[in-house]
Amino acid sequence: MSTKKIIIAIDGHSSCGKSTMAKALAKELGYVYIDSGAMYRVVTLVALRNGWIENKVPSKEKILEGLKDIRITFKWDEEKGMNTTFLNGENVEDEIRQLEVSENVSPISTIAEVREEMVHQQRENGRNKGIVMDGRDIGTVVFPDAELKIFMTASPEIRAQRRYLELTEKGQEVNFEEILANVEGRDKIDSTRAVSPLKKADDAVVLDNSHLSRKEQLEWTINKVKEIIEA
Ligand code: DC
Repeated sequence: MSTKKIIIAIDGHSSCGKSTMAKALAKELGYVYIDSGAMYRVVTLVALRNGWIENKVPSKEKILEGLKDIRITFKWDEEKGMNTTFLNGENVEDEIRQLEVSENVSPISTIAEVREEMVHQQRENGRNKGIVMDGRDIGTVVFPDAELKIFMTASPEIRAQRRYLELTEKGQEVNFEEILANVEGRDKIDSTRAVSPLKKADDAVVLDNSHLSRKEQLEWTINKVKEIIEA
């Protein structure tokens, strides 16, 4: 394949396999992978730890005050084939995936100033191209000039089923109906929020993976990349 490096923006609904695909793609291309959702999860974790969220309502003032002390970094774990997320050097990868964080992250991600700071950090990561980033606003806001934009989706039931398996495999006790409600609730907040709502960029290609294997999705995407870098 050509050595031309591009930016690949992957957006879509929660739990539709964006990060699995993005990771596999980055590995295949030798690109950096950044999970932008993990960054909003870290902010949420800090807010939960410090009691800055009461009954799902975040204290904007306290969060903005604390934001300057949050340094988010990623380290690629070759053995596990995944990114590990760090908060000021502390490995918080498992903690940010817990249901409590999932249940509180959407309201945090609607705070404009939090988004501004995250977008700033995300753009820094993409300065040298050769990056795959997944999220909700990567193709629309973070990298509007990305050479390849993919909008991924799958039915809510299939997404909840995948999340259920992921969490039970990690030994967490979870309830399918609760997860489905969480997936549907997040879709609603993500798509209707005033700031950077989840929406397909006009020039994004849609990938509905409800009935596609991981291998099929990766092949489909690699073909798209080839079309661009070999043009
Ligand atoms: O992809 P995820 O489920 O880990 O994302 C966690 C939350 O962060 C989700 O509710 C939407 C939000 N998010 C966002 O608003 N913008 C992004 N670029 C990525 C995630």
